[in-house]
Amino acid sequence: MKTIKMLGILGMVTVLGIGLATRLTAAEAAKGTLDNLQAAYNGESNAKARYDAFSAKADAEGYKSVAALFRATSRSESIHAAKHAVAIRKLGAEPKAVIEKSDVKSTKENLEAALKGETYEKESMYPDFIKQAEIDKNSGAVMSFKGALAAEVEHARLFAQALKELDSWKEAGKEFYVCTVCGFTMAKIMPKCPVCASPKSKFDVIK
Ligand SMILES: [Fe+2]
Ligand SMILES: [Fe+2]
Repeated sequence: MKTIKMLGILGMVTVLGIGLATRLTAAEAAKGTLDNLQAAYNGESNAKARYDAFSAKADAEGYKSVAALFRATSRSESIHAAKHAVAIRKLGAEPKAVIEKSDVKSTKENLEAALKGETYEKESMYPDFIKQAEIDKNSGAVMSFKGALAAEVEHARLFAQALKELDSWKEAGKEFYVCTVCGFTMAKIMPKCPVCASPKSKFDVIK
């Protein structure tokens, strides 16, 4: 009898425990995407500041086309930050960024640092954030993260190319196109944005 009673109590505790655990997990998941949006907003805001500083350094060192690339990627990151901010406000929070002092070195080193940052974002950060936002069924966050991921892939490719051909990027003349709707960055003009399909009239030309 005692054993049956004990099992009954244990059973109830287990059921309550599972119920509580399920509720906590759901709450934690919702908080997960908000935290991820804030981390992405902070990251993009800092990337923008860093690329502005790297662009000034590239200009000072005479790498005119590298300076243009940093200006274009800075514009792109500011668009991503603004889109993440919209998704944060939809969850009832205010976007927060702490802008750190940019660690400006030589243009070659700045390109290497930028490539490292973009590689982390495209290979690890945004894929993880997208998975969590899908679990949380936050379609706005999924869209915002996917738009940023597509651009970071291209940023990494362009930084790697600039590093490889650094001497020939001294000359001015390279132009970049940034879709003002999603932030995608192009080295060649396209009739429409390959990510969000906006027409080329929505592109900023950056040189
Ligand atoms: Fe980027
Ligand atoms: Fe776009």
